[in-house]
Amino acid sequence: MYEILSVRELAPKIKLFEVHAPEIAEKARPGQFIMVIINEKGERVPLTIAEYDAGKGTIAFAFNEVGKTTKQLGTLKEGDRVWNITGPLGNPSEIRNFGRVLCVAGGVMIAPMLLQIKALHETGNTVVAVVGARIKELLFFKEEIKALSHKFYVATDDGSEGYKSLEFLKDVLAEEKFDRCVAMGPVPMLKTVSEFTKPFGIPTVVTLMPVMVDGMGMCGVCRVSVGGKMKFGCVDGPEFDGHLVDYEELIKRQRMFLPEERLSSLLWELGGCGCGRK
Ligand SMILES: Cc1cc2nc3c(=O)[nH]c(=O)nc-3n(C[C@H](O)[C@H](O)[C@H](O)COP(=O)(O)OP(=O)(O)OC[C@H]3O[C@@H](n4cnc5c(N)ncnc54)[C@H](O)[C@@H]3O)c2cc1C
Ligand code: FES
Repeated sequence: MYEILSVRELAPKIKLFEVHAPEIAEKARPGQFIMVIINEKGERVPLTIAEYDAGKGTIAFAFNEVGKTTKQLGTLKEGDRVWNITGPLGNPSEIRNFGRVLCVAGGVMIAPMLLQIKALHETGNTVVAVVGARIKELLFFKEEIKALSHKFYVATDDGSEGYKSLEFLKDVLAEEKFDRCVAMGPVPMLKTVSEFTKPFGIPTVVTLMPVMVDGMGMCGVCRVSVGGKMKFGCVDGPEFDGHLVDYEELIKRQRMFLPEERLSSLLWELGGCGCGRK
């Protein structure tokens, strides 16, 4: 059992949990993820590590309440426990002095991007950061990321804060030289950023979030096509060369259980999970 030490609401339906997990905190690195199981009957939910502190024996992860399990997770409070957490899983991000790094984060993935930016900043990189969300109310960690960045941009889909959409990035890329781009967020955002950086030959690393089951390379559910080769998101990733990813296939595969997910979410909304907690 893993105790939740603190709960922070970062934005509507986006929460950050700090959890006591000393054995994971000791080994965790930026870019890795964990598998959370709420209770004995729970499914495995992959979530990216957003913070770790080996000294305190804690890790933190942020999640968006999008379906049954993440909504259920959202009902937990400080002092509650989750049944199991496995990790750290996946390969750590490559962190070294690249030079000028463009970091683009969207939605809930702004949380693990802060960890990434801290590491890039500490290794001497000049970070240019972009945080984006559908609407301004879903933005968070702006001040924290700005403090570590040489330049800082905000974009929203509806233009309610900062630039409207990521189109402005085309001008930024035309005017400034970058040695690397790191992108975390929804697939359409990763695809757009990769399309923008490709003509400039900027190595672009994207974090993929295919549906996963075991997270350890055994089930094959997390298959993605990268450069025409089949890769497993969990053990070969989760980071891949953004210019080589087959995004259309990824989007299709992410939707393969949509009817079941919708039903499960609806049943949860109607009656909870039977554990006494709505
Ligand atoms: C490596 C990795 C890291 C991730 N990091 C984060 C994170 O830091 N924060 C966050 O909010 N979300 C993250 N996700 C996505 C998160 O795992 C899903 O949102 C979650 O599993 C949804 O479960 P649900 O029951 O609430 O919703 P569901 O209704 O089951 O699913 C909603 C959507 O989430 C995706 N999804 C569903 N099940 C899985 C699964 N087992 N594995 C991956 N995606 C799934 C599907 O696209 C689906 O359409 C990550 C996914 C991966 C693979
Ligand atoms: S999640 Fe099973 S192989 Fe990757």
